[in-house]
Parts: sequence; structure tokens; C-alpha cells
Amino acid sequence: MITIAKRFLEQGGVGAIPTETVYGLAANAFNTMAVAKIFDIKNRPTFDPLILHTDSISKIFDYTTDFPPLAQKLANHFWPGPLTLLLPKSALVPDLVTASLPNVAVRIPDHPIALQLLKSLAFPLAAPSANPFGYISPTTALHVEQQLGSKIDFILDGGACNVGIESTIVGFENQQPVIYRLGGISVEAIEELVGKCIIQTSGSNPKAPGMLMAHYAPKTPLIITDNINKYAIKYAHKKIGVISFSDFFYHVNIIESLVLSSSKDLKEAAASIFAFMRQLDCIEALDYILVEQMPEEGLGRAINDRLLRASAKRAFTKGI
Ligand code: TXA
Ligand code: MG
Repeated sequence: MITIAKRFLEQGGVGAIPTETVYGLAANAFNTMAVAKIFDIKNRPTFDPLILHTDSISKIFDYTTDFPPLAQKLANHFWPGPLTLLLPKSALVPDLVTASLPNVAVRIPDHPIALQLLKSLAFPLAAPSANPFGYISPTTALHVEQQLGSKIDFILDGGACNVGIESTIVGFENQQPVIYRLGGISVEAIEELVGKCIIQTSGSNPKAPGMLMAHYAPKTPLIITDNINKYAIKYAHKKIGVISFSDFFYHVNIIESLVLSSSKDLKEAAASIFAFMRQLDCIEALDYILVEQMPEEGLGRAINDRLLRASAKRAFTKGI
């Protein structure tokens, strides 16, 4: 399968690749015609730049003009892994990939199939998450198949993504690390290595245009709450799906209840959150998805971030 994917990519094709975070929709980053197809397939605005994926730090020196010591420290510690670094781009990287921004986003994913593919290629892969723009990110090959299957050249099946939420994006301003997207590596883990970080993940942040307030959204309205019972009673005449840490709910209007982790493990919760949102979104009869708010620590912060965006304003509505 890897050789088939390699051949498509070398010929300017676009296909889905597994990573440890979510599935990516990949194309040769140096082939602008191929990169343009990614935007088209995802229906993604071209002001939203793409992450470059590669398999070695030495290649990243070619794609960037400055790789400061603090960035190298993070890279050495967390790569391969769910960390994306924003670094000044070199002339090799097309403006289409970075949406003409001065920085390029780079990462080395921690997935054996992705790494084997990347190693075999003479170019890096530009890859956003393999979902229609604004919808929930895919964490299995089936998720990709269901939404983009007919539009792409191949899907490399690498099983379910074990991190389950996207990479943490870190850049630098005056040598100070700035976190632009919360993700698979916690703020605590990053700060332990490089000290205090500025966290700048607001919806209007021009440094990471993809961090729009409404994103990762199911068609079914999603509500985050620390009191599932309250909403189950409030919406007594509506059909409800629940995602939480327990399934001790006895309301007749709760049609389906999915347990993220009975031991409240936030890593386990991250690995399932997107798949559960999709699962409930597929139940046509549901009026609301209620999700238990995570503690604001570790990966809980990144999950809350996704839930907040998923609940903000729906890019998709039922029946469309
Ligand atoms: O885990 C991940 O990062 C996954 C897998 C496939 O690697 N990819 C992913 O890509 O989440 P995407 O395109 O869905 O999100 C990339 C984010 C966007 O918010 C985008 O705005 C930001 O990264 N980004 C990319 N390049 C950038 C740049 N040059 N400057 C600022 N932000 C950038
Ligand atoms: Mg995405």
C-alpha cells in the first residue's frame, strides 16, 4: 500500500495518511497544483495555511531559515510526536502552503506508516486534517472514506489514531514560545521543557488563521456542560446523546450514552472524543449532543478547546 500511495503522491495525487493525531489529507508540498487540490477537496479557504510533514529534523533545516535553540529543544524532545513548530520559511516552500505568511508550520508525525512513507519521498507532504472544512477531524480510515472517499486517490489505513486530537502548535515571538493551538501535547509538558509560554488561541488570531471559533463541528447541536442531568431535564422532550465519564443516566430521552474513560483518563478521552462526536452525529433522530466538560488541565484543556469550537456555531446543519 505504501508504494501505491508513494506513486500517487509523486504524480501529483492527493490521499489520506494516518498520523498519531488525526488522518491527514496529503499532497506533495512542492507541487502547487497538487496542494491546490487539497484546498478544493476540503473546501478550505486558501488563507488557511497547511502543515508540512516530514520524517527528519535535518530536512526541516532546508524548509526553514531559522531554527532557534528553544525550537530545537522542543523538536528533539517531542518529535516524532503531536507538536507543530512555526518557523521562518525558506524559499523552497510555496506561498500557497503558508498562505503567504512568513512562517511555515512543520511536524514529524509519530506513526510508523506515515514515517515509512515520508522517508521514501523526495519531498515533504502538506497535510491538513482529512475532513471537509469545519467538520469533525477523522481518526479512522473509515471516517475519511465516508466523507472524502470519492474525491481522493488513496487512503492509507493505519488503524485508529491513538492521540485523537490535533498537534499542539508552538511559535516564537521575541524568543518567547507562544502556543497557538492546544493539542496532543499538554501546555504543562511544553512549559516543563521551555518555561512559561504565552497562550494565544483566540478565534481571531491572525497568526493561526485556522483557529476559527466555529470548527470541529457536528451537524447536531452540541452543548458542553458540567451538569448533564440538568440539560437532560431541560430538554425532556428532545432526543439526546451523551458523551461523558460515566453512563449513570436514567432519563428516557437519552438515546445513547458513550463513556470516554471510566477512570477519567484524559489521554483515553482525547483518543475517543472525535469518533464519539461522529458516532452520535450519525444518529439522525438526535436533537442534541451533551458533552461533559473536561477538567482544565493536561489534555483536558485541548479537548475543551475543541468542544467549545464544536458548540460555537455550526458550519453544517442536519439534512444538508
Ligand atoms: O495533528 C495535526 O496537526 C494534523 C495532522 C494531519 O498532522 N493536521 C492538522 O492540520 O490539524 P489542519 O490544517 O487541520 O490545522 C493546521 C493548523 C491551522 O489552524 C492553520 O491555520 C495552522 O495550523 N497553520 C498552518 N500553517 C501555519 C502558518 N504558516 N502560520 C500560522 N498557522 C499555521
Ligand atoms: Mg483541521
